[in-house]
Amino acid sequence: MAQITYIDKEGKSATVEVSLKDAPFDDHGKPASLLAIAMKHGIFIEHACGGVCACSTCHVIVEKGKNFLSTNEEQEDDMLDNAPGLTLNSRLSCQAEVLRDDAEIVVRVPLLNRNLVSEHAKRE
Ligand code: FES
Repeated sequence: MAQITYIDKEGKSATVEVSLKDAPFDDHGKPASLLAIAMKHGIFIEHACGGVCACSTCHVIVEKGKNFLSTNEEQEDDMLDNAPGLTLNSRLSCQAEVLRDDAEIVVRVPLLNRNLVSEHAKRE
């Protein structure tokens, strides 16, 4: 089972265990993407374009286990250029797929987010 820990903007973490044979996990992004796994397990990550690599709102920073993820494609790198708080370990969670069942991955959602139109934003 792959083990993935998600840390949200407030620093709260949640860990899920998945078997990759169960992919696709959800229709958000690539079949075994960090976003698809998160959404399937009730962990919300912004994803304004629905996971088709057309925004940067699903930006996460991989703190552990980068080598267990698929490599960046050119379109992902182009979109990441628009992400606030970009780091060398930044990925679009809809594009980064977990490759192995023995993976141990930790990702953090950065504090800054450029999605100004969010269904989850508080309305006053
Ligand atoms: S949700 Fe838009 S690029 Fe991932």
